[in-house]
Amino acid sequence: MEIRVLFVCLGNICRSPMAEGIFQKMVNDAGLSDRILADSAGTAAYHIGELPDPRMRRTAQKNGIILTHRARKIEKPDLEAFDYILAMDDQNLKDIQRLQTTPHIGLHLMRSFGGNNLQINVPDPYYEDDAMFDEVYEILVYHNTHLLNHIIQKHLR
Ligand code: 4NP
Repeated sequence: MEIRVLFVCLGNICRSPMAEGIFQKMVNDAGLSDRILADSAGTAAYHIGELPDPRMRRTAQKNGIILTHRARKIEKPDLEAFDYILAMDDQNLKDIQRLQTTPHIGLHLMRSFGGNNLQINVPDPYYEDDAMFDEVYEILVYHNTHLLNHIIQKHLR
């Protein structure tokens, strides 16, 4: 059975498509692309249909990742369709929880994977400088490594 993973931020043009792209590359490199499916969505509708922010795409490309995701808004059926839902920050988490009728057992803050981290949110880089986009990339690599290890240990061994 395929494990389905959804990354969620506010606009679905910065953090969550970057998280999806990093995770997909890790899954491909691990030879698990037929076992794990990755997608992303936003809690807001502002950017539906758009490619990721050019600054996020530049950071991705520097690291060998081409982002082609088109922004979409998370909808109620996503809660049933995905085994893991990773919220980039605590406001995203609250907005996702408002969609659910029963608690989703796979709903987590992105930064809860990897532990030892007092900072719970992936910072929103939208109004920040280019350096913040690179920082978001590094944060997401770290936590995605732990997320993928968790999924492999729990479901794929
Ligand atoms: P994201 O960043 O949630 O990481 O995609 C943002 C993108 C757009 C906006 C805010 C955050 N916005 O206000 O349009």
